[in-house]
Amino acid sequence: MDFRLAIAQEILKALGETNLTAQEIADMLEVPPDSKLGDYAFPCFKLSKVLRKSPMMIADGLASAVRADFLSRVESVKGYLNFFIDRAIYAEKVLRRAEAEGERYGSDKSGEGKCVVLDYSSINIAKRFHIGHLSTTMIGNSLYKLYKFFGWKAVGVNHLGDWGTQFGKMIAAYKRWGDRETVEKGGVDEMVKLYVRFHKEAEKDPALEDEGRHWFKLIEDGDPEALSIFNWFKEVTLKDAEKTYALLGVTFDSYAGESFYNDKMGPIVDALREKGLLKEDKGAMIVDLEPYGMPPALILRSDGASLYITRDLAAAKYRKDTYNFDKSLYVVAYQQDLHFKQLFKVLELMGYEWAKDCEHVSFGMVSFEGQTLSTREGRVVYLDDLLKTAIEKARAIIDEKSPNLENKDEISRQIGVGAVVFFALYNNRIKDIDFWWDRALNFEGETGPYVMYTHARSCSVLRKAGECAAEPSFEALSDPEAQEVVRLIEQYPLILKSALERSEPSMITRFSADLAQAFNRFYFERRILDDDMGARAARLLLTRICRDVIKSALGLIGLSAPERM
Ligand code: ARG
Repeated sequence: MDFRLAIAQEILKALGETNLTAQEIADMLEVPPDSKLGDYAFPCFKLSKVLRKSPMMIADGLASAVRADFLSRVESVKGYLNFFIDRAIYAEKVLRRAEAEGERYGSDKSGEGKCVVLDYSSINIAKRFHIGHLSTTMIGNSLYKLYKFFGWKAVGVNHLGDWGTQFGKMIAAYKRWGDRETVEKGGVDEMVKLYVRFHKEAEKDPALEDEGRHWFKLIEDGDPEALSIFNWFKEVTLKDAEKTYALLGVTFDSYAGESFYNDKMGPIVDALREKGLLKEDKGAMIVDLEPYGMPPALILRSDGASLYITRDLAAAKYRKDTYNFDKSLYVVAYQQDLHFKQLFKVLELMGYEWAKDCEHVSFGMVSFEGQTLSTREGRVVYLDDLLKTAIEKARAIIDEKSPNLENKDEISRQIGVGAVVFFALYNNRIKDIDFWWDRALNFEGETGPYVMYTHARSCSVLRKAGECAAEPSFEALSDPEAQEVVRLIEQYPLILKSALERSEPSMITRFSADLAQAFNRFYFERRILDDDMGARAARLLLTRICRDVIKSALGLIGLSAPERM
């Protein structure tokens, strides 16, 4: 039951003749900041003009006219009409609806028949995964799950950074000082070492730069040896990254990265030329964006080489042609705001009406204990180190508190990853994240492990309770603690809808923490296993729905909900 709409219908009945619709009135209803003022309030000044009456008079008139069995009281206060919903009926309607919808509770069918492409994580070859990549990876993963939950077809793309002159340099360095076995064993770390060494030695020996250029040219020309080394670098990087993705539980449908578009840029450049958008500028080819207040988009360098944006133009077109998306999202840090503005503008100028369906989901920077990350100065936290530490901490706590738990390895992983990911998804995405070891590894308060623990607690209550065949008496859920849990459960669909519209997983993260907190208060204040079987049945139903909603919310931010901890 939609109380908002039901109240609106009652107001409409009491008003008699108007041209307003119930939906319009429903949209005017507010939720008072303090529940002492009711569950919903109607600001009567919104009707003053139409009815030519003061808000006070309207409120007084309506207060005596509106009656419905689901309302326990209707009060006129200072031009507001305050509605109090009958607590037992409210709890019953909310819980029965959630129960009936089961695992689908919170979603609707708005995405059926639609497709979204999500570009996230998009790591660079021969670089190590650090905490700066956590946001794109986990925001993208969460949106991917959220869209699917709403019935969309979702395509997750890891747009690998696998193109650029640096790969020529890496091959040059590898040819001089590297050997296969060391790189095979050391993985990305070894490749980074080679790259650092290249730069150090190139200062003394400029011939190295030429070697690097030479190798890059060979990659471009498709030389078999250059390509085989380059592809092997890619394999080694992905093998390392896959381990981290496996820990995080993140997957992709496509790894088509920058190099995938090598043979797909010609047509884009031709199209730009045909449409008269391409201009020469000191030998380079650009699209002038001055009329739109932006620097030009550099499409081809004077040596004919393509750029990051050229590849993104080809990628955008390819994604439209391949998936025929209704939406295409790029989860990338705000440093690339300008890049995406330029990209979308050029697509629009090319006459692609679907340019409007492309969106940059940007997010803040990550700093480390108050300072910007810097690999060179050693101020960097690698993701696998962080996850490993978190998992070890979880393991130590389990060994101490629940030594007989089955499946300790897997549950430690779930909790450790839960702590880190929850921390990363807790704030609005646009806020910068300052990363502190002790905060990311905190297991108490508003943290992933706390929410997971609450879920396990509700599982344990339900296990102990066994079957309860009595009819629930919803009067037993009239107390403030139970009501707060019910209120949050009622909000879940709205939270998910907004999270989807704003591409904001943090709304789900915070919601799960609020619900966990509300449930714990209920758990400590009320006796779930009451002697009164009707009350017991009602409290168990509340516990069960709450457990399911926490599990669903955790799932949508990419986390598991262990049943025992
Ligand atoms: N690899 C890029 C980087 O690390 C991010 C790529 C984002 N996706 C895109 N289609 N441009 O900065």
